[in-house]
Amino acid sequence: MKIVREKERGNVIVGQSGGPTAVINSSLAGVYKTARDRGAKKVYGMLHGIQGLLQERVVDLSEHIRSDLDIDLLKRTPSSYLGSCRYKLPEIEGNAEVYDKIFAILDKLEIEFFFYIGGNDSMDTIKKLSDYSQINGSKIKFMGVPKTIDNDLAVTDHTPGFGSAAKYIASITKEIIRDGLVYDQQNVTIIEIMGRNAGWLTGAAALATGEDCEGPDMLFLPEITFDVDSFMKKVAELHKVKKSVVVAVSEGVKVADGRYVCELFDNIDFVDAFGHKQLTGTARYLAQKISSEVGCKTRAIEFNSLQRCASHIVGRVDITEAFNVGGAAVKAAFEGESGKMIILKRVSDDPYMCVTDIYDVHMIANVEKKVPREWINEAGDYVTEDYIDYVRPLIQAELTPMMVDGLPRHLRLDDTSYSKK
Ligand code: F6P
Repeated sequence: MKIVREKERGNVIVGQSGGPTAVINSSLAGVYKTARDRGAKKVYGMLHGIQGLLQERVVDLSEHIRSDLDIDLLKRTPSSYLGSCRYKLPEIEGNAEVYDKIFAILDKLEIEFFFYIGGNDSMDTIKKLSDYSQINGSKIKFMGVPKTIDNDLAVTDHTPGFGSAAKYIASITKEIIRDGLVYDQQNVTIIEIMGRNAGWLTGAAALATGEDCEGPDMLFLPEITFDVDSFMKKVAELHKVKKSVVVAVSEGVKVADGRYVCELFDNIDFVDAFGHKQLTGTARYLAQKISSEVGCKTRAIEFNSLQRCASHIVGRVDITEAFNVGGAAVKAAFEGESGKMIILKRVSDDPYMCVTDIYDVHMIANVEKKVPREWINEAGDYVTEDYIDYVRPLIQAELTPMMVDGLPRHLRLDDTSYSKK
């Protein structure tokens, strides 16, 4: 691998946190390659984010990513190459020992630059570590690299990972709509889409609509309170006039008393370190209700993790931006920035163009950006043209997987590095 080094820089560490995306490793590749090109002595990877770092579980990435081909494979590899975590650092006040431990580990590795690839919860880690560096006088620079399929990060136009998930959702929705028409028999399909409290991804199902596809019949986003009775009435009316009804619902739709629809069915026991309940079962609940009350064939299709790991259909715009935000974070940190996150700024719609910028992470951490009310129709069951115009450029173009033996090839961190303490 040809590395054109600028002047020698200190050591770098990078971690991945929260739910993965199909392009999160492209951001890792962007951090790694840019850091090496710009003269970093060593680039370490934390295994399973900050949680692994607290156990000193780190790898020297140059021992694992050895060639340009490895970098290309890394970009095309789904899930988090380094492993991820859902781990919230405690408040600084009263917990200095946790921070002292982290800084002692970073000092032992002679780290000068720290990068964390994640969403709004993960940016809380960058915020707290950079705040603590002001208290203990550490010179380490802390930078956030945005990612999340949910697209709910504040300030940035959108987040890397969202475009590819949206592309997958729209593509597969088209296929499901075709499949629903196969028999001469009435049926209702309920699709369940991720996104927790924001409906960006559910809205993407509307992109299925085009010359060759009528698109889904209704979309229910978590931004709008879900009314089970009115939903049932709407489905029953559509069922009277259509052979096949396809409805997309967000996993995060909630009824008026604040309960998730999936809680009407299942008791959700698992809650992660950020206090998030595991959301699953919304489509199953609604499909069962329809089959018993409307009396027709139903299917519940939960896209689940498929929508965030479909690296065989990543968007080229998305994977390129994911790489660029990683590179921009390194550039900014090497120029002395800290406590910031890279954002994407849309400078033009036609032709679509986004540039990177930096923004104070304090304004981004723990904030959830929702779909604006005016991008959802009045009835609360579809998105508007403005929403479509915003998303369409983000799903454009493709990046072919590297196929070996008929299957996409991925880069894998060998298992032995996971057991290193
Ligand atoms: O990180 C975003 C996300 O993919 C959400 O859309 C989803 O609700 C959540 O992660 C699932 O998290 P986990 O993989 O921890 O179950």
